[in-house]
Amino acid sequence: MRIHFWGLLSAATLAAAGKHLPPRNYSSHDYYAIHVTPSTSPSELAAHLGLTYEGPFGSLEDHHVFKAPKHDNDIVDDAQQELKRRRRKREAGPEYHPLDSIHFTQKQKLKARHWKRSVIPERQERAGPPVTDAIRAQREVANKLDIKDPIFEEQWHIFNVKTPGNDINVTGVWMQGFTGKGVTACVVDDGLDYMSNDLKDNFFAEGSYDYNDHEDLPTPKLSDDRHGTRCAGEIAAGRNDACGVGLAYDAKISGVRILSGEITDLDEALAINYEMQKNDIYSCSWGPPDDGKTMQAPGILIEKAMVTATQQGRGGKGSIYVFAAGNGAVSDDNCNFDGYTNSIYSITVGAIDHNNGHPYYSEACSAQLVVTYSSGDNDAIHTTDVGANKCTSVHGGTSAAGPIGVGVFALVLEARPELTWRDMQWLVVMTATPFDTPSDWTKTALDRQYSHQFGYGKLDAWAIVEKAKDWKLVKPQAWFYSPWMHVKKQIPEGKQGLASIFQVTEDMLKKANFERVEHITLTMNVEHQRRGDLSVELRSPSGMVSHLSTARRNDEAPYGYIDWTFMSVAHWGEPGIGNWTVVVKDTKPGNLKTGVFTDWRLRLWGECIDASKAKPRPIPTEHDDDDHDKIDGHPAHTTNVALPSSTAPTMTSLPDDHIDRPVNQKPSQTKANGGVQETSLATAAPNATAVPAENFLPSPFPSFGVSKRTQIWIYGALALIFVFIAGLGTYLFIARRKRIKDSRDAYEFEVLDGDEDRADAGLLSGAGAGSREKRAKRGGELYDAFAGESDEDVLSDGDEGPYRDQERYNEKYTMDDGSDAENSGGSSAGKRQ
Ligand SMILES: *[C@@H]1O[C@H](CO)[C@@H](O)[C@H](O)[C@H]1NC(C)=O
Ligand SMILES: *[C@@H]1O[C@H](CO)[C@@H](O)[C@H](O)[C@H]1NC(C)=O
Ligand SMILES: *[C@@H]1O[C@H](CO)[C@@H](O)[C@H](O)[C@H]1NC(C)=O
Ligand SMILES: *[C@@H]1O[C@H](CO)[C@@H](O)[C@H](O)[C@H]1NC(C)=O
Repeated sequence: MRIHFWGLLSAATLAAAGKHLPPRNYSSHDYYAIHVTPSTSPSELAAHLGLTYEGPFGSLEDHHVFKAPKHDNDIVDDAQQELKRRRRKREAGPEYHPLDSIHFTQKQKLKARHWKRSVIPERQERAGPPVTDAIRAQREVANKLDIKDPIFEEQWHIFNVKTPGNDINVTGVWMQGFTGKGVTACVVDDGLDYMSNDLKDNFFAEGSYDYNDHEDLPTPKLSDDRHGTRCAGEIAAGRNDACGVGLAYDAKISGVRILSGEITDLDEALAINYEMQKNDIYSCSWGPPDDGKTMQAPGILIEKAMVTATQQGRGGKGSIYVFAAGNGAVSDDNCNFDGYTNSIYSITVGAIDHNNGHPYYSEACSAQLVVTYSSGDNDAIHTTDVGANKCTSVHGGTSAAGPIGVGVFALVLEARPELTWRDMQWLVVMTATPFDTPSDWTKTALDRQYSHQFGYGKLDAWAIVEKAKDWKLVKPQAWFYSPWMHVKKQIPEGKQGLASIFQVTEDMLKKANFERVEHITLTMNVEHQRRGDLSVELRSPSGMVSHLSTARRNDEAPYGYIDWTFMSVAHWGEPGIGNWTVVVKDTKPGNLKTGVFTDWRLRLWGECIDASKAKPRPIPTEHDDDDHDKIDGHPAHTTNVALPSSTAPTMTSLPDDHIDRPVNQKPSQTKANGGVQETSLATAAPNATAVPAENFLPSPFPSFGVSKRTQIWIYGALALIFVFIAGLGTYLFIARRKRIKDSRDAYEFEVLDGDEDRADAGLLSGAGAGSREKRAKRGGELYDAFAGESDEDVLSDGDEGPYRDQERYNEKYTMDDGSDAENSGGSSAGKRQ
């Protein structure tokens, strides 16, 4: 009765609550994001926990926000632990308790700001007389379109008079009348100067908010709050007498401010799909640090918000996300180490300079879809700046490339508003233009050229709008997940790799209603003493090679990849049937840093066969990889092989001096063994003395020269014997002690300790925090074995810290290897197929 009543009340409250939660004040309060069962009354839950109910959590179904006065503890987690303790001690019964309605709870933590992806470009104007014919043509265009903007002639990315042809090729689109009318782009950044004469007419306040200062307008306030305004100018600066024009100069532009202070996952999740029925495209020129040693993905709430937007935003066609690829190329950074740019939901845009050259900063990766113009070689992007009539001529980095993409996509949406988020990616793939700069250009299944450095080539506004006009919409999305492939083998050092194969059959894809590949993601665990030494390739059945990961000289992290998901767009259009081979390499022989390839799982994402049977992907949860160690009759077929490093480039070959080219790094080294599979594992076997077995306990404990897993069992057995004897003694001594399993309380602190960081980098593309919980659980299983029952409660929901740093997580959990132990908790993992 009461529950039903709540159902009605909930709708009413939702409507009454209006669109905004009350502003947060993190200096006076703690905030909790809680996911509950649908029939739960948040107010009752709040009353039970002594929290204040703030309201529903944006677009996330059954998620709510609560607050409490600032306190060191996590009130919700403490209450859950207390209930579990009482139940174990039989002080509380198993009957329903309000806390049982909680699926997931997260106390919000302020996390470091994202990095803006601008670089300080060289100021010097490039020399060389403009081509006079080009100038004449440019004036003609300006006259026809009545463009009088004072810096229009400097805006070479729109019309390049010095190197004709090296621009976005948009003026023909404008002539056809497509200028962004009816489309809204939202710049998620450090604010937007809506008072600027160049932006005020196109500014869209309803789609704007400030999540740093919790107020309605995204006013730039800090001295360096210029980035968002510059990006906005590139997209939608008006055709007027201020500065220049945006690529979609009649589009609406909104601003959501998140980069001007520390932020929580809660606020970032609200920001990333803010007003998703009114904002069509989100422009994101930021991300985790581009320092060549960070590996960071959005937290689970942000991931949920992005998936929700691609399913429900824009009237169900899906919000368009555009991310700047990143500026860390000079430090060997790669956009596959960034969980935003390697999301299947984002269009990742890298940069080229006005000569179609690779600017030193722009990162490469297999998740990069396209490039466009930005700073480099003595020029930069000229656009609007903060101030009534201020302009800049030094906007740059991949930060400046992303918004050019956004402007072009606004024109595409004006031409075809009904395109889905996937159609937009298809159009990019089909129309991006390869160019004559050496790279690993490789012909793909769709007869397109792909390069890890330049994606499918440079964006061409004319080409994509023309293609969009009669584009046949793709059928809904389907997906196929391989089982977890358990490899658990030492990675040989050097050019040899450790390969593992999964064979996808026609039947598997038919059952998955899967017709052809768009994105692939690969989630993997690799233990390694120096993460930066690793590289990973994925070879598809058709022979296309994705360089999922490349070595990073600054990445000293003393562990490998933990449930990290890599992504590739290089297999777009492949049928997917056949052998998919993943090759893990240790690129730094002789530094005594070694590792083990633990496991991996392949996911194919693409177009379905039968649209009538398609369903939207379930919203990801923190438990999605809980089936990590399930043994399902698919042992990995693993060989230690030397493969030819890549299919031959078809357009141009690679110069040897190119520092951040991710592929064909040592073409000569692999030639000798090209194509020959060495099935012997002998070379992979570590010299037992040279490579000591990793010790699962601190050094005073001998490792017995066996694997960590065996050590765990040896020590586990010793511990069990010890605990048994101690337990027996205790039992005899204190006869009234009822249950030996209570002894679990004695180690509970140890596992709970991991809670705050447990859910470390939740991954956009499917790998969530769940598997880490699972691993943390396994830490306790040795003891459980003695207690004779599983203890799924000890580590169920916990605080999934935002941007939990991998380092701290690992210190706590490196003792867990990929043990085969039966899973304890009955996994509710959303197996999608
Ligand atoms: C937030 O809380 C602090 C501490 O209680 C207070 O000083 C400050 O004025 C509050 N800020 C706002 C905007 O209410
Ligand atoms: C640019 O657009 C024009 C139409 O305005 C088109 O003919 C041309 O092929 C496009 N590409 C280039 C590189 O000029
Ligand atoms: C695919 O891999 C399997 C082993 O998993 C192997 O037996 C088979 O020959 C491979 N097929 C091809 C075409 O390489
Ligand atoms: C491997 O072990 C042998 C002894 O069994 C030793 O002579 C040799 O030096 C070791 N190799 C390396 C690379 O350490």
